[in-house]
Amino acid sequence: MFDTTALAGTKPEQYAQLAEQARGLLHGEHDRIANAANFAALVWHALPDLNWCGFYFFDGNELVVGPFQGKPACVRIALGKGVCGTAAATRETQVVRDVNAFDGHIACDAASQSEIVVPLLGRDGRLLGVWDVDSPSLARFDADDRAGMERLCAIFVESLA
Ligand code: SME
Repeated sequence: MFDTTALAGTKPEQYAQLAEQARGLLHGEHDRIANAANFAALVWHALPDLNWCGFYFFDGNELVVGPFQGKPACVRIALGKGVCGTAAATRETQVVRDVNAFDGHIACDAASQSEIVVPLLGRDGRLLGVWDVDSPSLARFDADDRAGMERLCAIFVESLA
């Protein structure tokens, strides 16, 4: 059984604790679906104020939904479309304070108000997919979330090797 302990301290400290939990949870396993499913469940239960978190994997052509927590989601997203497709095309983390103000935002769950999407890149720079987290609150994600989520995603990508 994997026992998660409540996060404490500042946001960066909480992300550091969550990173250690993710490392422990994924340790010794390299299966992409298994690790993606456990990673999404870990973040979902650890962080407050989320209504969706999960993966879209690049199939060589477009993004296809992978393991997630939250309501059923759009299955396929073209590169360059929505927040996810923008993160994938630019290979830059997207922090969106208000999804309604983001041109081309794809509303999978009408409750989503803000969003962060981190591109997942292999060691060789290859696009693997994106990690997408939505919140029902405006401006839920800041620079600390960006740094924390990027660190978590690096642990996920490393686990696949
Ligand atoms: N809002 C995303 C689509 C995916 S869902 O939020 C799960 C986007 O604009 O790319």
